[in-house]
Amino acid sequence: MSARSGAPVVVKLGGTTLAEQRGVLDEVARHAERERIVLVHGGGKRLTEWLARMGVESRFEGGLRVTDDAALEVALAVLRGVINAELVSVLRDAGADAVGLSGVDGGLLISERIPTLGRVATVTGARGTLLATLLDAGVLPVIAPLARDAEGVICNVNADDAAAGLAGALGARLILLTDTDGVRGADGKRIASLTDREIGGLIDTGVISGGMIPKVRCALRALAWGSPEVVIADGAADRALERALGDPGFGTRTHAAG
Ligand SMILES: Nc1ncnc2c1ncn2[C@@H]1O[C@H](COP(=O)(O)OP(=O)(O)OP(=O)(O)O)[C@@H](O)[C@H]1O
Ligand SMILES: [Mg+2]
Repeated sequence: MSARSGAPVVVKLGGTTLAEQRGVLDEVARHAERERIVLVHGGGKRLTEWLARMGVESRFEGGLRVTDDAALEVALAVLRGVINAELVSVLRDAGADAVGLSGVDGGLLISERIPTLGRVATVTGARGTLLATLLDAGVLPVIAPLARDAEGVICNVNADDAAAGLAGALGARLILLTDTDGVRGADGKRIASLTDREIGGLIDTGVISGGMIPKVRCALRALAWGSPEVVIADGAADRALERALGDPGFGTRTHAAG
């Protein structure tokens, strides 16, 4: 395995099906040959489908899924089982030494329960040294958004939140790939760059809503925890990862203040 250098990058995939993600997964595998990449995945849409199939209704509050014990069991099976294994398999086909983990494995994510949402927790930190060891060994870690809370109960965590915790712990740039070209303003156009104050204003006026709320809040948390830059961009775009890493005109960017 060739030595990889430079600051690590945490990439979060979400919002789309595996078939739509094939392009970006190939790109992740190619970049992982020379860069230290950690991949975090969501799976909201897939999970909602499975929950419906099992007769469990999905309800959201502030963009976060309310999760009872039955829903958590399905989330665990689908996120750590189906989605994580499929991603690892596609990435291994593409030549990467992908290894699947969740935030439960090795105590990777540290989290605190959100009492009103059931088996849902917010990420308060991460065990960066474990990831650093894996990255040093040439591995591409693929992380499912699950974590144990302070009492040792397995909880669902928002995948953006998981990615933010990992990026903070590694001092890594955070790339949140989604199904929209970035954060859009009141005029519906993509905003190239945002400060934390501007993000607060867009949430207060309702311009940022739904799943974009936890996403921008996570961006700010990642910066506060030590990430130098967060990019929110379209994962289905051509050369999405390369442009997120190097083209300032692609996606929406926020930077650490000062
Ligand atoms: N101001 C905004 N700009 C862009 N998207 C917005 C805005 N406000 C709300 N959204 C919604 O947020 C969505 C992105 O969040 P969503 O949680 O659905 O995707 P994801 O996080 O990529 O996927 P997953 O939650 O499955 O991991 C967009 O598709 C859009 O519908
Ligand atoms: Mg989301």
